[in-house]
Amino acid sequence: MPYFIPKNLLEEIRARNDIADVVGSYLQLKRVGSALKALCPFHKEKTPSFNVHAQRQIFHCFGCGAGGDVFKFVMLYENVDFAAAARLLAQRCGLRLEYAEGGTPGDGPDKSLLYRVHAEVAELYQQSLLESPRATAARDYLAHRELDLDTARDYLIGYAPDSWDTLLRWAAGKKISAQQLVAAGLVIKSDRAENRSPYYDRFRHRLMFAIRDELGRVVAFSGRVLDPADKTAKYVNSPETALFRKGRVLYGLDKARRHILDARVAVLCEGQIDCIRCQRAGFMQVVASQGTALTEEHALLLRRYTDDIILVLDADPAGEDAALRAAEVLLAAGLSIRIAALPTGHDPDSLIRQQGAAAFQHVLDQAQSALEFQVGLLRRRENLATEAGLTRATRAVLATIARAPGAVHRDQLLRQAATLLRISEQALRQDLGRAAPPPSRTPPGTAIPPPSHPPEEVALLELLAQHPELHASIRQYLVPEHLTDPACRTLLGCWLDPDAGPKALNAALLDSDEECRRLAAQVQMAPQRITGEESSAPQAAQDLILTIRRKGLERRRAAARAELEHAADREREALLAECAQLSVDINKLRQKWEDAKLFLEL
Ligand code: CTP
Ligand code: MN
Repeated sequence: MPYFIPKNLLEEIRARNDIADVVGSYLQLKRVGSALKALCPFHKEKTPSFNVHAQRQIFHCFGCGAGGDVFKFVMLYENVDFAAAARLLAQRCGLRLEYAEGGTPGDGPDKSLLYRVHAEVAELYQQSLLESPRATAARDYLAHRELDLDTARDYLIGYAPDSWDTLLRWAAGKKISAQQLVAAGLVIKSDRAENRSPYYDRFRHRLMFAIRDELGRVVAFSGRVLDPADKTAKYVNSPETALFRKGRVLYGLDKARRHILDARVAVLCEGQIDCIRCQRAGFMQVVASQGTALTEEHALLLRRYTDDIILVLDADPAGEDAALRAAEVLLAAGLSIRIAALPTGHDPDSLIRQQGAAAFQHVLDQAQSALEFQVGLLRRRENLATEAGLTRATRAVLATIARAPGAVHRDQLLRQAATLLRISEQALRQDLGRAAPPPSRTPPGTAIPPPSHPPEEVALLELLAQHPELHASIRQYLVPEHLTDPACRTLLGCWLDPDAGPKALNAALLDSDEECRRLAAQVQMAPQRITGEESSAPQAAQDLILTIRRKGLERRRAAARAELEHAADREREALLAECAQLSVDINKLRQKWEDAKLFLEL
């Protein structure tokens, strides 16, 4: 049965779903003037060419050509048909559309039905946890883990009763077939059932965690054993289904994503209970990989919300190796990673329970860059005083660096590594040249050449070129030394010189190098990013000032930490104090402009 939505209802849905809000809930939209930009989710790219036009209520990607209205965006993004997109958008604005029965004709499993089954089964398990007389053990376990009933409700925790056919009997009353439950991963079909029914429930006598996708829809379950004496697997998880791919879902992201966007950083831990504990303690930007190895898809999922990730790891060799592997995956996706080590014997859950939120905050504050972490590890595992040890260490570090897709990023890492390993930058650079070239992550044809200058510095220059009226106010907060790129520094110097004025620019540039002149042309010719609402140019400037100043402090902190590693005792205290102060300052810069600017004035 085709699903019919009356036209006036469609228009109502459209009117209530502003495209900027909808896209903003999926992607990290950056306001550049009145344009809203993001990394395009529909092709791989490193600089944003995906644009949202709020007045016209459309989106368009200059890179891959995708474009359309809010319905089209949801269809492409969620990979669903028009009716499903309309239903999602209706839900989003509180309008209720019934599920399409029958769904897509043909062979593919009916996703709508699977979503509905998951939502209802989560309710069923929850109800059984909260109310069933047979769930005493589960309620006791919940209390023992110090999870209260509000938390259970909020995270849709439930209990799968100790029986083989809870779901089968429930489904019978709802015209849901056993095969459909198998497709949902909730029921297993045995091939050795002689004269009884071959179907039985996957989850029995377990504490059930509903796993939601980033939109909050239940797509799978993870069931924890209650009795420590029970020798079956500690967690039983849903298999991969039409709704659920393990490598694609991060637990807690539905609650965390807004906060990750605001905090501009995501914290990644392993377990569901860890994630819940962290979020309950106020660390809302925490998500969990649920014990699986981190995949490129996880990285791309996170990258929609932030490019700064803190990995929280167990302080044992297995945890360290897992963190390094995860760091490589994230690095290859162009994300910047820090690694925070837990005290031995703790996971985030036990740490927060026993020592409180401040102890976990401290762990996060101590996060090291992936490179520092790797060098620290190598120092412990290799003898860097021997040539063979140093060669192995250098090779390992260079392999990490070669994974970073951006030339600027690689260059930064190289400088850091040279300091950390105490070898000359030049020697390291030569070795990197010899190491295998980084794998190309961009499919041919869709390639956009990576910027050879830091994007935020280039964006600032474009803004300066187009908005001379902003020069005076930017001068209050930035000097050329705040930029890392030599060419960008030169140009900023020219523009911010109050006596020079724009006309003097080309004259001043005559003395500078060729790349600097090329860049000057590029930023002056850059398409006007600001159309309409002129008031947002100052806001774009503020964002860029914050980013640039924050990155500067982060570099100083990394340098201080690197120094700390080899510092004599009497220097340590000063360095530690410096790191602590820098962390405080960096946090100030993560605040809103009004709060941060006092701190920034030169
Ligand atoms: N996990 C799993 N299957 C297992 C063991 C673990 O899927 N047999 C996943 C779960 O998502 C779990 C995560 O890996 O949350 C981390 O595992 P572990 O550190 O062993 O457990 P904890 O999260 O500490 O779980 P708990 O606190 O419940 O013991
Ligand atoms: Mn645990």
